[in-house]
Amino acid sequence: MTLRHRHLLGIEGLAPPEITAILDLADDYATLNRSGDKHREALRGLTQINMFFENSTRTQASFEIAGMRLGADVMSMPMQASSIKKGETLIDTALTLNAMHPDLLVVRHPQSGAVNLLAQKVNCAVLNAGDGRHEHPTQALLDALTIRRAKGRLHRLTVAICGDIAHSRVARSNIHLLGKMESRLRLVGPPTLIPAGAADWGVEVCHDMVEGLRGADVVMMLRLQRERMDGAFIPSQREYYHRYGLDAEKLAHAAPDAIVMHPGPMNRGVEIDGTLADDINRSVIQEQVEMGVAVRMAAMDLLARALRADREEGVV
Ligand code: NCD
Repeated sequence: MTLRHRHLLGIEGLAPPEITAILDLADDYATLNRSGDKHREALRGLTQINMFFENSTRTQASFEIAGMRLGADVMSMPMQASSIKKGETLIDTALTLNAMHPDLLVVRHPQSGAVNLLAQKVNCAVLNAGDGRHEHPTQALLDALTIRRAKGRLHRLTVAICGDIAHSRVARSNIHLLGKMESRLRLVGPPTLIPAGAADWGVEVCHDMVEGLRGADVVMMLRLQRERMDGAFIPSQREYYHRYGLDAEKLAHAAPDAIVMHPGPMNRGVEIDGTLADDINRSVIQEQVEMGVAVRMAAMDLLARALRADREEGVV
């Protein structure tokens, strides 16, 4: 299986069989990652450059590990020390890097759409590692893999995505993915944190946690993304936790075998109770991190195959 895309910019443009192909390959890589010899040669000879214009712990680390396990030459640009600080534009930085012949460019940027723009200027494969509040495709894929491994399927599940939907690229990518895979989606949060028009996305919108969690198979919590808020969106952190923070009492309204997810970084006592987040019988938060490496290996492997095919045909 190859992808018919040069880049992975979002889930919106992917077809369900492509999503399944990435997840199937990622499942194989998850097995490899638990073994003693984690090396494969899928990206051998290729250069991967990571450009993170926004802070990141797990996404950047897992892209680095994924590239190294598949034999790529991996370089993470120290963006704090780069020429961006001297006034160079994103596009100029991209063109400079492009001249060094990278094959895979992994980009995170605070502005929605910035990664798509950059992809038009370079002749390698670009992977979106999160752009503003737009998309974060590898996060939705790793969430899907975690759900599929826990529940055995992605269709006909009730998934409650809770909290700060308005500022979340994770929510947007998950809504695309789970919608395409025919799961039932509920967005749960205060009216100020649910985008206007969300009701037209083919999802249910709830402003009450008990109602929103009722019978849910999957409960996905989101961080309050203060760095993207300009003004007061919640009355107080305490009040928010009381109404929308996930604890055992609220979770009791979900299905008895519901799993709890969070993309991280997590704010304990703000959107989720710390004890619940650590409860290995309910929380799959660590599995999400584990699947992150596997999904990024699969995505870069498939994009590299497409890139090599394009190069053979002289398209790039
Ligand atoms: C998310 C992100 O950066 O969008 N984190 C992640 O990639 N694991 C979510 C967040 O920042 O809250």
